[in-house]
Amino acid sequence: MESLTIVNIAELVVVPQGPVPGRSMGQFQRIADAAVIIELTRENPSVSPLGKGGGRIAEGGRGRIAWFGRRRDCPSRSGPTLDAGGGCVLPGLVDCHTHTVFAGTRENEFVRRIEGKTYEQIAREGGGIRVTVDAVRAASVEGLVELALPRLQRMLEHGVTTVEIKSGYGLSVEHELKMLEAIRRLQGLQPIELVPTYLGAHTTPGEFDDRPDAYLDSILADDVLGRIRDERLAEFCDVFCETTAFTVEQSRRVLTSCARYGLGSKIHADQLNQIGASRLAGEIGAVSADHLEKIDDAGIAALKAGGCIPVLLPGCAFFLGVPQAPARKLLEANLPVALATDFNPGSSMIESLPLVLSIACTQMRMTPTEAVVAATTNAAAALRRADRIGAMAVGMQADLIVLDVPTLDRWLYEPGRNCVRTVIKEGKLAVQRKVGSRI
Ligand code: NIG
Ligand code: FE
Repeated sequence: MESLTIVNIAELVVVPQGPVPGRSMGQFQRIADAAVIIELTRENPSVSPLGKGGGRIAEGGRGRIAWFGRRRDCPSRSGPTLDAGGGCVLPGLVDCHTHTVFAGTRENEFVRRIEGKTYEQIAREGGGIRVTVDAVRAASVEGLVELALPRLQRMLEHGVTTVEIKSGYGLSVEHELKMLEAIRRLQGLQPIELVPTYLGAHTTPGEFDDRPDAYLDSILADDVLGRIRDERLAEFCDVFCETTAFTVEQSRRVLTSCARYGLGSKIHADQLNQIGASRLAGEIGAVSADHLEKIDDAGIAALKAGGCIPVLLPGCAFFLGVPQAPARKLLEANLPVALATDFNPGSSMIESLPLVLSIACTQMRMTPTEAVVAATTNAAAALRRADRIGAMAVGMQADLIVLDVPTLDRWLYEPGRNCVRTVIKEGKLAVQRKVGSRI
């Protein structure tokens, strides 16, 4: 059995296996002068979420964490050694809410908001999601793949080793399936593990204006959901539950229909208005409720009762210039908060999850330690993968990143500079950046 030993680690971040509840997210072990041993094995092959043809992951479970601890206690193993150069080592980041597959850009809306319009006003005036829908409908699968591939490469370079990607800019059966097909192809072309989510219910397209229920009939038809299940085109479904999109009752219908076909439930909840979306999430036991800028006490109680992961997207409120979700209140309620970029061309044109973590620190008053738990094991829990990725534990998949700074605090204290030196995906070197001697 081959192994790889990482040495010269100034701080090893021992993220426990989550979901970690809010009040415990600020405490975990950090080992100074540490080492990690990765074993490269073909035992325990992990199951590809994308099934046959899904690519790389189906080839066999590759690297697992076999040992970690103080360097002086490190058992010697044959095989190569990687020098972490006195940097900090932690689990690869998990971006559990993105819209990375899209075409076109919307910088005109960015400028209109600066001039005084709101996101909702722009959507009502014909801008917003529908603009991206026109661009996506005009694109081929190959075109969508070509646009998304460099985005994923940059995300990887920022330390992200797992990314959830939603459809939702096709808004017809044909174009939604095209988006899901693009995600499937992207899985075979680059090392990040992709988790596909069906967001057919993002908004009602122009041709169904004022007939949202008829639109839902089309995208929730048995043959469509059956195909998504049989071809494993998506693992989750999502719905935008909002005054400008779908009501609570329509959202319930979307999620329960998709659940019958095995798709886990996610909800864009309480983003712009409080209409009861997080209460619905709790009631149906959604895996996650995302956004939550406008969550109320009843919503918080519902998420707790339903065992839902709150996924906060501080890059979005930062980008739109609106108040952030009440992160401290959710942490105090002991909910296992997760963080993600919500990378999309309308409300969060931000690929960098580390930047989003720094925003969570300064704008939501999450500590760097809490932010890292939120973007590793808790984000993995929001994708039902906390037993395999996101934690520093023996047996976990070896998705690790090496920073060119000695501590987490130093990392998030420098927003906007990429401090990631090395990315290891399933035990294999995926990124090795040349960086200056910053440490
Ligand atoms: O998560 N809220 C809905 N969907 C996206 C925005 C999509 C868009 O504006 O293109 C979001 O913020
Ligand atoms: Fe989103």
